[in-house]
Amino acid sequence: MTAKIPVSVLGATGTVGQKFVRLLADHPWFEVAAVAASAGSAGRPYGEVVRWRESAALPQRIAGLTVQPCAPPLPGPIVFSALDAEVAGPIEQAFAAAGAHVVTNTRNHRMDPDVPLLIPEANLDHLVLVDRQREARGWPGAILCNPNCSTAALVLGLVPLHRAFGIEKLFISTMQAVSGAGYPGVPSLDILGNVVPHIGNEEEKMERESRKILGTLGADGVAPADFAVSAHANRVATVDGHLMTVSAGFRRRVTTDEALAALRDFRASPRVACLPSSPALPVEVDARADRPQPRLDLERGNGMAVTVGRVRPCPILDLRLVLLGHNTIRGAAGQAVQIAELLVAEGRVDRPA
Ligand SMILES: NC(=O)c1ccc[n+]([C@@H]2O[C@H](COP(=O)([O-])OP(=O)(O)OC[C@H]3O[C@@H](n4cnc5c(N)ncnc54)[C@H](OP(=O)(O)O)[C@@H]3O)[C@@H](O)[C@H]2O)c1
Repeated sequence: MTAKIPVSVLGATGTVGQKFVRLLADHPWFEVAAVAASAGSAGRPYGEVVRWRESAALPQRIAGLTVQPCAPPLPGPIVFSALDAEVAGPIEQAFAAAGAHVVTNTRNHRMDPDVPLLIPEANLDHLVLVDRQREARGWPGAILCNPNCSTAALVLGLVPLHRAFGIEKLFISTMQAVSGAGYPGVPSLDILGNVVPHIGNEEEKMERESRKILGTLGADGVAPADFAVSAHANRVATVDGHLMTVSAGFRRRVTTDEALAALRDFRASPRVACLPSSPALPVEVDARADRPQPRLDLERGNGMAVTVGRVRPCPILDLRLVLLGHNTIRGAAGQAVQIAELLVAEGRVDRPA
């Protein structure tokens, strides 16, 4: 590909928006053509209004872009959304109606029957919902959703086991980083030296979104996968990365060695593995007794791999394990970019001549 595809980022000043800007700065196929945010930021240079929190320098060209209001038209066939969910719904619909493919991290449309809730390595077949959506809604564009950040890591880590053995029951307890709450997010006096055993609606999202992603595509949409999920969500004083402990029951007896083999052998389909953002190993197994850890294991696969460790028998369900995923990369911007790459690779978005 010679000329790059222009893309726009909604909510570009926030935690996930900044991650988009960073990941897209050197992207081989895409180029940030517009950044957009609230009325309070619009009209000023991005470099002036953004409280840049990424460790890499803010690219000069993007720092000089004037922040746009979040309304169509914005340049490019792909619009990434990292908007506050309170305002995202109608804005994303307006862009899809105006012809854009909107790849969003917000919760607003995730459970719509005609909207794909995607993890490319897990449910590529759900992508065809885009065609039904465009027909049903009469849109030239479409909305495609990323799951909630903890759900993205959870489901990617478990899909090899679900395919091999069939999940029947899941019991999950999360330890979620403060960046999951956006910027400025959780007040420091609430979280430093502390654990907060509640994240609004997070448990419900994990319970319903995991069943849609692993559900079966049918004529009426996706029939949710038939397993029970009990999730406990906790906010902890880490910066990035959602760690979770998982106990799982399966439809047949599973040994630890069988589970480890299924996890180690898991690969994306060739249609996904070829994408620039796809990690060679979507699920990395670490056999060391005290891994994975957020500070040591988060950047695997450039933040797109999940790490699974401590796979062992469970005296209540069948197996126990620990799972780690990057909330703003695999759980948000990185996977949204991967979905956009998929749209291009599948010929759903035109490349420039
Ligand atoms: N953080 C994560 O790990 C994570 C992971 C997965 C999904 N998500 C989801 O991704 C979305 C963004 O999350 P975040 O953590 O990046 O949040 P954030 O840091 O609070 O950023 C919110 C963004 O929305 C913009 N915004 C707020 N009100 C607006 C309005 N009325 N019109 C237009 N833009 C408006 C803000 O612009 P201003 O700066 O101009 O106010 C900012 O760019 C949320 O829906 C969140 O649930 C977050």
